[in-house]
Amino acid sequence: MSELIWINGEVMPLAEARIGVEDRGFQFADGVYEVIRLYKGKPFTLDQHLERLRKSADGIELKLPVAVEQLRGEITRFISRGAVGEGMIYLQLTRGAAGRNHAFPDCRPTLLFYARVLEPLGDPEKSEGIRLITVADERWKRCWVKSIALLPNVLAKNKALAAGADEAVFLDHGVVTECSASNIFIIRGRRLLTHPVGAKVLPGITRAVLLELAPSVGLSPAEEAFSEDEAIHADEVFITSTTREISWVSRWDQATIGGAKCPPQTLALHRALRERVAAETA
Ligand code: PDD
Repeated sequence: MSELIWINGEVMPLAEARIGVEDRGFQFADGVYEVIRLYKGKPFTLDQHLERLRKSADGIELKLPVAVEQLRGEITRFISRGAVGEGMIYLQLTRGAAGRNHAFPDCRPTLLFYARVLEPLGDPEKSEGIRLITVADERWKRCWVKSIALLPNVLAKNKALAAGADEAVFLDHGVVTECSASNIFIIRGRRLLTHPVGAKVLPGITRAVLLELAPSVGLSPAEEAFSEDEAIHADEVFITSTTREISWVSRWDQATIGGAKCPPQTLALHRALRERVAAETA
């Protein structure tokens, strides 16, 4: 079956969809996006993603071309076709196509989404830890906007891969903010810490779910900044995102963190997250 896309209200084969050369997403990265996880063909935390989309759009002075409730219905109808079970929805909203000019045009925004299959995630107990490398955080100060302008993130991620690492962690004057495509947490004793969202940190949906679940596994969560040194000397370190859920960190540049297996409190959070997913997508 060919992949489908929903684009400005129409459903068509993905390969046939066309965006104008002067779409502002293409020329100015003038747009925002969302990545929503599908488990057994059902969306996880769809409402939270749509609320973040609305806030991101607001953050760039762009109005959603359809009401959130209507968009929710369109996404639900689209995925009920059942083409993707384990996967994700990629959704993008740009200011639309108009003659190139920095000034906001009077045009219809481009809104589209499509589903993609994702490899199922392995058993966290058997998973290997990942390696992070540090990169200076040179991004703009509105990282709470889920902007499609991702070049600093793309460059950081590729720097990590070129160094044989898995992900890049941003350092803002010695403070750990987030990673190129994920949030980051440390555990010290029974305290779970992650940088507050805002100028330098995206309000990750997985992050929010874990902060909520933390007390159920005996952790006390706090949104507090921490230094690189505190991260390297933490008991446990992990990163989170919609597509990877939780990945535990075993190496940070040249330093080693913890042992050879996913550490216990991270594992407990993993299980709590899987339970939440199972309950919400039952
Ligand atoms: N990225 N921080 C950044 C910079 C991100 O790009 C992402 C997710 C996150 C985690 O947010 P969430 O838990 O809502 O997925 C944090 C997505 C997955 C991406 O760009 O593909």
